[in-house]
Amino acid sequence: MSTPTAAANPALELTGISHRYGRGPWVLRNVDLTITAGETVALVGPSGSGKSTLLSITGLLTTPTEGSVRVGGDPVPQSDGGRSRMRTERYSWVFQTVNVFGARTAQDNVEVGMLSQGVSRREAADRARLALDAVGLSNHRDKPVRTLSGGEVQRVCIARATAVRPLVILADEPTGQLDRATSDVVLDALWGARHPESVLLVATHDPIVAERCDRVVRLLDGAASEAAA
Ligand SMILES: Nc1ncnc2c1ncn2[C@@H]1O[C@H](COP(=O)(O)OP(=O)(O)OP(=O)(O)O)[C@@H](O)[C@H]1O
Ligand SMILES: [Mg+2]
Repeated sequence: MSTPTAAANPALELTGISHRYGRGPWVLRNVDLTITAGETVALVGPSGSGKSTLLSITGLLTTPTEGSVRVGGDPVPQSDGGRSRMRTERYSWVFQTVNVFGARTAQDNVEVGMLSQGVSRREAADRARLALDAVGLSNHRDKPVRTLSGGEVQRVCIARATAVRPLVILADEPTGQLDRATSDVVLDALWGARHPESVLLVATHDPIVAERCDRVVRLLDGAASEAAA
């Protein structure tokens, strides 16, 4: 639920975002998007409409040709180091199986991100346990990740991404490669493990994902529009 205070200080504020790759056509034109803490937002639109581009701009991986991004009320730092720090401290990408330590346990993999953020060992252990419970992996906690199935590894990644309680969670086509049953398990895991104050922004072609979200933002011909809830 959004509160007046949260609305006055949005978690994410994209203003006048326009983007083109090099001298190519404009992919995004003057997109404004404000997201309050705790909101779940689906980005939809045809292939090539700029969903991944907008996600990458939101996640500070791509600098927009025009426009500005504010995160937690703060402008994005100019320096590479500052931007990189902001990415680490305020964002998680889910469904990225990169940087998973296959030889280490699920529990260790989830703890690692929190420890690097300065969370105490005991709290990291507790939060990792809760996050693994929330994604249905209580029984796999002490298994090396390389012995888990693909869907289970994805759920470890969700636990890892949510346990750090980032301001913003980003997901690009989370159910793209999954059958319906597996994608339901994975989505339940994500919704179940997400800290209620974390924003979730997800680019998707899947109407079932969009239906789960509080808001649906549609990209078409470079412009963003939103159906009234
Ligand atoms: N690195 C790049 N260099 C040049 N053009 C790019 C680059 N990345 C994307 N584009 C172009 O920008 C447009 C938007 O691409 P984007 O990947 O954001 O679309 P999308 O909505 O995520 O599509 P899909 O649903 O297929 O994933 C496309 O025309 C694409 O070809
Ligand atoms: Mg895409």
